Amino acid sequence: MYDFTSTIDRRQTNSIKWSGAPTDLPMWIADMDFKVAPEIQAAMQDKVAQGIFGYEQPHTDYFRAVANWYAREHHAQVDPQWMLFATGVMPAIAATIRRVSNVGDNVVVTAPVYNMFYNAIENNGRHVLSSDLLYDRQTGHYTIDFADLEEKLANPLSTVMILCNPHNPIGRIFTHAELTRIAELCETYGVTLLSDEIHGDLRLTDVDYTPMFTLPETLTQNLVVFVSPSKTFNVAAMHAATVIVRNDGLRNVVSRGLNTDEVAEPNLLAIPGSIAAYTKGHAWLTELRQELRRNYQLVADFCAQPEISVRLVPAEATYLLWLDVSALSHDSEKLADYLHTETGLQLSAGNAYRGNGNDFLRINIACPESMLRDGLNRLATGLASFSTRRS
Ligand SMILES: Cc1ncc(COP(=O)(O)O)c(C=O)c1O
Repeated sequence: MYDFTSTIDRRQTNSIKWSGAPTDLPMWIADMDFKVAPEIQAAMQDKVAQGIFGYEQPHTDYFRAVANWYAREHHAQVDPQWMLFATGVMPAIAATIRRVSNVGDNVVVTAPVYNMFYNAIENNGRHVLSSDLLYDRQTGHYTIDFADLEEKLANPLSTVMILCNPHNPIGRIFTHAELTRIAELCETYGVTLLSDEIHGDLRLTDVDYTPMFTLPETLTQNLVVFVSPSKTFNVAAMHAATVIVRNDGLRNVVSRGLNTDEVAEPNLLAIPGSIAAYTKGHAWLTELRQELRRNYQLVADFCAQPEISVRLVPAEATYLLWLDVSALSHDSEKLADYLHTETGLQLSAGNAYRGNGNDFLRINIACPESMLRDGLNRLATGLASFSTRRS
């Protein structure tokens, strides 16, 4: 029913992704080359037609729309009273870090992980303390090293942990048991847990993710959850996110942080766009997931060819796939630069995500099939010439 096949010319549109050379094919930054759901576009058009763009604040209809979405899509109950509006996940994470920790504190992460977490931590004078994920080279599977995580959380200078679930860039949905263990450890050591669930709607299999706010109340007292329609519905420039905090005291603290840093005030499209997404977006999202599954399979088939020495890390969610290129290079930036120069294909170099990222490239598959096929052809050409050049 919806159009996931047309290629849209995004050059000359202020797009960050499409700002390169005319021959470039960008498959790096996390936005999609699919047009927004017409229901969202219509709601935005209605707003623009009003012609009044003064200061705004979200009301019950916004928070209800978010709550109903989680009830319907994830069978997760969330009280609208637990919610705060924010102008984006990263500004809200940064504002929260500033409120709940001190300069010089450790913020624990599980590398390789979304690179902007490092900016939010280090640009605010905190230290990154990573409990690197364990990687099984045979299966391509990543797991949490719980003994190491406990040691890092027990460090007296560790006051915050940022979890990414589903996890960008490794594509894992952490299990209920894993999330429970993480929450227990954070509770034990008095660490505030920030759970970034921006990719939560983008499962690639029938297995859903567990929103952290559904864990038992005893495990959610130190928890701040961040959700957004931004990745799900490709509305990054709308700058809307919802922060969910069950504990009243902590919610007040976070709210003051959001207000101090002025990330609590929506732009003109954020409220109507979010409400339309959450109340009318189900059908579009269902079709999107089918497209992503098909594209995922294309990449899996591509990597399964004997002449391709790249291994796909099995993903359960997100449209960002993590490619193990360790058979070819341990310098992801060099390989990514080579592919860009030789073929125009732009992938994300894995080193930005730290941990063992230097053995990986990240590819964004949220695009029409024709574009993905073009990307994979360029990748095959680039990898072949990279290998020849090396040997
Ligand atoms: C895990 C994660 N968090 C946050 C963001 C960015 O969120 P926002 O644009 O709302 O700041 C991204 C974007 O790729 C992401 O992958």
